[in-house]
Amino acid sequence: MTSPRAASPTGTNRIPSPPSHPKSKVLVVLGTRPEAIKLAPVILQLRRMSDELETVLCVTAQHRSLLDGVLQLFELYPEFDLDLMRPGQTLTGLTSRMLGAMEPVLEAVQPDLTLVQGDTTTTYCGALASFYAGVRIAHVEAGLRTFDVASPFPEEMNRAATTQLASLHFAPTEQASENLVRAGVPRRAVHVTGNTGIDAVLHVAKRLEAGMPSGVRLPLAAGRKLIVITAHRRESFGNPFRTICNAVAELARREDVQIVWPVHPNPNIEPIVRSVLAGKPNVHLIEPLEYAAFIDLLRKAFFVITDSGGVQEEGPSLGKPVLVLRNKTERPEAISVGAVKLVGYDPERIVREATLLLEDPSEHERMSRTQSPYGDGQAGERIAAHIRDFLRAGVQNL
Ligand code: UD1
Ligand code: UDP
Repeated sequence: MTSPRAASPTGTNRIPSPPSHPKSKVLVVLGTRPEAIKLAPVILQLRRMSDELETVLCVTAQHRSLLDGVLQLFELYPEFDLDLMRPGQTLTGLTSRMLGAMEPVLEAVQPDLTLVQGDTTTTYCGALASFYAGVRIAHVEAGLRTFDVASPFPEEMNRAATTQLASLHFAPTEQASENLVRAGVPRRAVHVTGNTGIDAVLHVAKRLEAGMPSGVRLPLAAGRKLIVITAHRRESFGNPFRTICNAVAELARREDVQIVWPVHPNPNIEPIVRSVLAGKPNVHLIEPLEYAAFIDLLRKAFFVITDSGGVQEEGPSLGKPVLVLRNKTERPEAISVGAVKLVGYDPERIVREATLLLEDPSEHERMSRTQSPYGDGQAGERIAAHIRDFLRAGVQNL
């Protein structure tokens, strides 16, 4: 067989010259379900720039079952899978295993930039290990703050520490950007991009509208209002969780509702939820849903009750009122526009606000008809372009 070299049109043995700009390498590190959902839109855009950038995906698998479905949905095939999840893992155990596992990955890849998202143990460890290896860091969903290190725990610390470590900060909103500037981040290092979670939800909602089967197989009763619930925050473990469950039990006494709760697999949650709610009429406790199935469920919901960060953003973008099971939120924008209310853990307050939504059509209409403050679905594209420009500018950014 003729080799390409022998087939050179000039007849000389031409050695291919290296590209004038060698490719920069971006190492993307993610570990949990929400990180995969929110980084997928960025990874897909980065991969479109493959003539200039090489994108390497490392999953810590801080989550296993919750993560794998999202990787499949967005066709993300990791180059490294650290497979770190252990049942009932502790924060210290997971952190120490993760830092140890990240070091050889950084040595093997030698990235020009590490990309992390949000505020999980993976975010913090991905950033810290990169910092120790002398690798610059870009942070997606930067600048969210409650200014209370105990809530959410440990996420407020994780994101504030990641801010200290990062060189490039992608803030979803103006308010998040101001938080970063007030924390001493130079304004030129901050870009307001919108939240990549909105890119993901709009993309999936469009596919569902176009007929993609979602896989939801629940016997949703006609004539009943669907309430979707999720909860998993560490600061609610124990009594707050019990009071949340009691409030749900109270709501379930109504004949006009149907409640669906995909229960997070964290072992601190499931036993309490089942002990209070299993067997209650109108309450379906189900396994976590695949992302597309969950978005389909949200589309059918009358309203949502949650302590999730991501669901607080998805609700308004799908026109669904959200009651947030927390006393503080790092996402105040949707409260300002009236799409979200904080209801804390007080069962009376939870039941009162839910009853208002069920019985007062004008209140339901008011909360459903707001403009999402979290973006337009183009955040991934903006972030990928900023990363490319940052890497083109080279060492000047160090
Ligand atoms: C983590 C993040 C939290 C994020 C949440 C999203 C930290 C400190 N917390 O919380 O910020 O909002 O993910 O869901 O990073 N488990 C499974 N299968 C899975 C995932 C979890 O069985 O696919 C169980 C395991 O027993 C695991 C436990 O849940 O040990 C806790 O997982 P972990 O990632 O430590 O905390 P989360 O509560 O999921
Ligand atoms: N989600 C999902 N299946 C479920 C429940 C939630 O795919 O059964 C998605 C949801 O759409 C959102 C994300 O998981 O995008 C939120 O994850 P979680 O609440 O675990 O974490 P947080 O956003 O609070 O960090």
